[in-house]
Order: sequence, then C-alpha cells, then structure tokens
Amino acid sequence: MRRLRKTPVIRELVREVQLQRSDLIQPLFVEEDLTSDVPVSTMPGQRRLSPSSVVREANTLIEKGVKSVILFGIPRIKDENGSHADAADGVVQRTIRQLKNEFDGELVVMADVCMCQYTSHGHCGIVRDGQIDNDETLKRLASIAVSYAREGVDIVGPSAMIDGQVKTIRQGLDDQGFKETAIMAYAAKHASSFFGPFREAAFSKPEFGDRRTYQMDYSNPDEALREAALDIQEGADIVMVKPALAYLDIIRRVKDRFSMPTAAYNVSGEYSMVKAAAREGWIDEKSAVLEILTGIKRAGADMILTYHAKEAAEWLG
Ligand code: PBG
Ligand code: ZN
Repeated sequence: MRRLRKTPVIRELVREVQLQRSDLIQPLFVEEDLTSDVPVSTMPGQRRLSPSSVVREANTLIEKGVKSVILFGIPRIKDENGSHADAADGVVQRTIRQLKNEFDGELVVMADVCMCQYTSHGHCGIVRDGQIDNDETLKRLASIAVSYAREGVDIVGPSAMIDGQVKTIRQGLDDQGFKETAIMAYAAKHASSFFGPFREAAFSKPEFGDRRTYQMDYSNPDEALREAALDIQEGADIVMVKPALAYLDIIRRVKDRFSMPTAAYNVSGEYSMVKAAAREGWIDEKSAVLEILTGIKRAGADMILTYHAKEAAEWLG
C-alpha cells in the first residue's frame, strides 16, 4: 500500500475525497442594534456583526473563496410571538437586500428560518399553555420565509423542527410567486449540547424547559431517516444533518438512502472545542480543522455549514 503514499504528488493523484472552498457555508450573526462588531466570547474568532459591516465581511469571504453564507439575526426587540422575525425592515431582511444588491450572482445568500432569537421565551415556536404549538407556529414560519424571499434570499433554512414546516413554507413561497426560492431543510436536527456556544452568541437560550419536544432524540437513527424522507416529500431541495461530528453515520445513511444534496452543520460546540484545544496548544488547529471537514465530506456531505469556513478557505486556497 505504501507505493502510493510515497510523495505528496502521488498522494494527491490517488486522493478520493477533496475538500473544496466551494463546499463551505459561513454562518454570520447580524445584530440589529450594533454600530460596531462584537466578538462572541463562547466562539473565539466569531463576531456579532453590525448591519453596516456585513457587506465588508461578505466581501472578505468571497475573496477567500467562500461563496455561501447563512444569516442569523439578532433583533432589538423580542416578544411572545416573535413578531419581529418577519418584519419587512427586520435585521435579516435588510441584510439580505444589501447582500443581493452588492453581490448578486457571486454569493449564495441563505437565511435561517426560526423564531428562537425573536421570542421572549427563547423557544422555536409559539407557546400556548407552556407547550410549543405546532400548527400555530407553521404560519409564522411561512411568513418569515416569505419575508426573506421578498428581499431576494436564494435559500431558506427552516430550523425549528416543527412538523410540516417544509410543506407550509413551500406552499407559502409558491403562493406568493417565489417559486425559485430553494429550501434547505434542517431535516435531522438533534437536541444537542453542542448548540451551547451559539445560544450565547445569538441570545436564544430557552427560558424554560428545553428543546426536546421538537428537536430529535440522538438515539434514533431510523427516525432521522423518516425526518429526511418527510422533508423531501414536502419539497426540500437540500436536506441537512445537524450536528455533524457525533452524527457522521446519519450523514452517510441520508446520503445513501436519498441521493439528495446533503448538508452537514458543523455546529458551534464542535467549533469551540477545536478553538479551545488549539488555544491551549493541545492540537494543531489547521490540520485538525481540515481533517474534521474532510471527514464530514467523506461521510457524505456535499456542503458544510461551519464557523471554520473563512479560515479553512484560506488554508485550502
Ligand atoms: C435556531 C438554530 C440553532 C442553531 C442553528 N439554528 C440553535 C438551537 O436550535 O438552539 C445552532 C447552531 C450552532 O450551534 O452552531 N433554531
Ligand atoms: Zn430555533
């Protein structure tokens, strides 16, 4: 076997999986209130961006070869019903418009569709009698997706794990004439401890209980396949598995079973663990990140949402 490992060029010749910059999607936090960027303490290297600095950040990403971003908004005002999530002049809506005006054709603009950053209780839907009301929430999610489509978003990413969300959003988009807006479904999104740093970053920690009545139990891989099957039936263009690292088996099964464009979300906790170990000098960051991202791609992911995107693109460039 060692004959084909002899030199870097031979190794390159026989390489089976090649991570590319175009596989990477950079998540961006945009906060309505900010006039300058603020570092996220739980995610070294990530910042909450002010609305005025997003274009500059996107420009840097494009220069480095990252051509896709997914937006997460942090609104000024939260309330019970998350009423600012679909505001025409909301922080995500304005950011989409800016990015499309500036970079149309050069940048894929995605936006997360959920309510947890917008609700005072921090849950991903409408709360009635202490429960997340599935069907009340559906209307809100469709309205959020349509409000993004109006500003020209390329892809919406429903992440609430509310049953029927893909169908309702597809219907809502089509009814309003946004037939070309694609849906990347957070199909198998698991209730995970690895979302912790994100919730600090986006101020979206639930005030009571947890998300286990809507996000998946990580002990159920067959159920993950049923979730993906449903989302595909309902009109998903891309299916996502989330998180990535403890879920490589799910990524592989989803890819093999459905042959769909498949995304993996290398989430905040996975990012911050690497950053922490690298800071301590316990691992070499660059080689660890490239190994992790290649592993996720090897498991079957066609694209990877990752906070490492900008740095990894530099290393790959
Ligand atoms: C919103 C959302 C979350 C993440 C992506 N979209 C948080 C959550 O579900 O609590 C997590 C991403 C990450 O940890 O990087 N529903
Ligand atoms: Zn949510």
